[in-house]
Amino acid sequence: METQQLAKVERLSPLRRWGRFVLVRLCVLLVGGTFIVSGFSKALDPQGMCLKLQAYAAAWGWHVSPDALPVRTATGLLAILEFLLGIYLLLGIRRYFATRFTLLLTLALTLLTTYIYIYSPVADCGCFGAILTLSNGQTLAKNVVLLLCSLYLCFRSRDIRRLISEKNQWGASIWSFLFVCGLTLWTYHYLPRADFAPFSVGTDLRKALETGQDEQVASFYALTAEGEDATLALATDTGRTFLLTLPDIPRADDGNNDRLNDLHDLCADRHWQFYALTAEGQDFSQWNDRTGATYPVLVADESQLRALARSNPGLVMLHDGKVVAKWSCNNLPETETDIAAAEKQQKEQTRWDAIKHLATLYLLPLIIWLLLDNLYVGSRFLKHWHIRRKIKLKIQTHKTTLNKQQSMRKKIVAGNWKMNKNLQEGVALAKELNEVLTADRPNCGVVICTPFIHLATVSGVIDHSVIGLGAENCANKASGAYTGEVSAEMVKSTGAEYVILGHSERRAYYGETPEILKEKVNLALENGLKVIFCIGEVLEEREAGKQNEVVKAQLEGSLFDLTAEQFANVVLAYEPVWAIGTGKTATADQAEEMHAFIRTTIAEKFGAEAAENTTILYGGSCKPSNARELFAKPDVDGGLIGGASLKAPDFKGIIDAWK
Ligand code: 13P
Repeated sequence: METQQLAKVERLSPLRRWGRFVLVRLCVLLVGGTFIVSGFSKALDPQGMCLKLQAYAAAWGWHVSPDALPVRTATGLLAILEFLLGIYLLLGIRRYFATRFTLLLTLALTLLTTYIYIYSPVADCGCFGAILTLSNGQTLAKNVVLLLCSLYLCFRSRDIRRLISEKNQWGASIWSFLFVCGLTLWTYHYLPRADFAPFSVGTDLRKALETGQDEQVASFYALTAEGEDATLALATDTGRTFLLTLPDIPRADDGNNDRLNDLHDLCADRHWQFYALTAEGQDFSQWNDRTGATYPVLVADESQLRALARSNPGLVMLHDGKVVAKWSCNNLPETETDIAAAEKQQKEQTRWDAIKHLATLYLLPLIIWLLLDNLYVGSRFLKHWHIRRKIKLKIQTHKTTLNKQQSMRKKIVAGNWKMNKNLQEGVALAKELNEVLTADRPNCGVVICTPFIHLATVSGVIDHSVIGLGAENCANKASGAYTGEVSAEMVKSTGAEYVILGHSERRAYYGETPEILKEKVNLALENGLKVIFCIGEVLEEREAGKQNEVVKAQLEGSLFDLTAEQFANVVLAYEPVWAIGTGKTATADQAEEMHAFIRTTIAEKFGAEAAENTTILYGGSCKPSNARELFAKPDVDGGLIGGASLKAPDFKGIIDAWK
């Protein structure tokens, strides 16, 4: 089925191919883009997502603190996962893995949002933090679309374009991981670089209280310990007012209390107001005991405290009723100059400026890496192109100097009977073939490779000038106590001239490694046998685009220690494993592409002349109906035939393809 797909891709009309390209690109942009924005907005405000998780947990009756380590870790991991998946999809990194993982994640999110849509445990899902708030219905619709796109991408993962070569994907992955992880940790330690929560810098508290316009801000209140409303006093003060937010006193970080107390002294000196704002039910005396605080305390709503500053404790400065600056407990100001500088900087830098800075920080190194990668790929391409051109030229020159012989290398059709036919049946088949082929002489070499027990008898019934004889295997030992084995010398003594080695069935079922095959090849050649050496990739390797790599390694592993003279007695057979006995033939173009690659590889190792003289057969569901098309390709010099060699008329049909 997959093989048929492979072949089908090549046969698609240009319009359909273009349509598929656009659809895949759209899905990649939609799913990848959404994941990047979603992961980035969580990394930009992880505390916001922690609050969301707290709300989910509360809806299911669990009390968890947004400051708890597991909650913070889960948020961080989600941000990293979403961001990386988005980048992987957009750049085409690890496409198989990325599309499957994306599908799993979107499926989980769709199930969760279906639940949220039905039972409404929270008002919005928090996918994009405070940057973009979606209703539960909108979130569900978004996730269904993403789910469908992810499903489609799973089937089309190989059509996702790689914007970076496989070799350099690690750089983009590591940089993306460091960026999103670093941003999340940085924000946990300080405050969000871009604040989209209520009470962001610039919020006019006084105006909101007077007009009631911004609902969340307008509902702010601050009560004294005695229950008196101090909200207006805060909002209408024309000077500077500092609010130390303490939403969760037991978990509040008291490591900076000296700086806090100094700041409080500075405020007293300058006649600026300084209050601690804590949540209802918190025991402020605990904070007093831990830090020696002497500032007054007011009580406010916990969620508003967490919106005021995403730090516990956090510091917010109001000036004339407006929020003008914020600090995390990890970078508190020390002097009046620090305060003025922070106020100026936070006023001048809008949140979109901050996002632009972050985007530049991330994209610049990534783009440089992509450019370097393109240069690298381009240079490799040029180098290969150059080598191939040189080899082609050499081959062409060689061809002409050899007086334009019709073809220098031998064309062969070889049959591989495998484990079929008993002795009588085998001898009958050999006789039948012999009769047919002596009556109608073939235009190519014909070889039949039979089980060991047939060899000696078949050798006596065929005309060796018309049909060559071969074995399907031989031992990797010369002679001795190897029960059940048949040596190359024994094969030769039956009258056989060929032996098949390296067949994928022997590699797969009998554990024949490149080293074992190397020993067999050497022994076969030493005993005067010609070797039909099989190579070929499995389906997964072809789907991963690794077929050239695999075939080259098989050649290198068993044949590249031979001399050019020895190699002259080797016939190669390219047999893609996915095409053997399956009825799924490689297309003639696929076969030609691989045969040309094999010939180039041989030329690089043994020289252009050897490459030009090497017979390369194709094997894998070759039949009378497709042999002619396959053999018409310039680098296909015949076939190694399995199933179709068991019936004389079929085998003859293939042999006749050379006529
Ligand atoms: P089929 O022709 O049966 O696909 O087998 C090919 C083969 O393995 C020849 O060695």
